[in-house]
Amino acid sequence: IERTFSMIKPDATKRNLTGAITKTLEDAGLRVVASKRVWMSRRQAEGFYAVHKERPFFDELCEFMSSGPTIVQVLEGENAILKNREVMGATNPADAAEGTIRKMFATSIGENSVHGSDAPETAAEEIRYWFSDVEIVG
Ligand code: GTP
Ligand code: MG
Repeated sequence: IERTFSMIKPDATKRNLTGAITKTLEDAGLRVVASKRVWMSRRQAEGFYAVHKERPFFDELCEFMSSGPTIVQVLEGENAILKNREVMGATNPADAAEGTIRKMFATSIGENSVHGSDAPETAAEEIRYWFSDVEIVG
């Protein structure tokens, strides 16, 4: 059984889509084993997205991610990392497949409603960034 890190981004919490997105994740076979609502600071956003700091959209990304509440979650399931990436859909909602979260809910490549870890190492790192061990209840 595998764990991955997931975020419901500010564009989605603002539109009251926390439940709808979580339901889509659960329907895909993922289990929420940790969850909290955080309004991250600009510094927390910059730390979380440090890997992207040379990208042209870094400032815009960190500004957006600290612009409102986010739900940070740990998801558990068989092949949770890949399964979550599949149900999220392509980064740009214009390219996302039918039935994916980004196709259903995202409004642009920046405001794309969800984040999901892309590999086991980043999943472990991202979970550790937001959660202590006692907050994760499998
Ligand atoms: P994550 O699960 O969030 O990591 O998405 P991803 O792996 O599909 O995309 P990537 O890691 O390439 O980019 C991280 C995040 O940066 C994306 O989810 C977007 O929110 C944002 N992003 C990527 N490209 C652009 C862009 O061209 N413009 C803006 N404003 N944001 C972007
Ligand atoms: Mg990524």
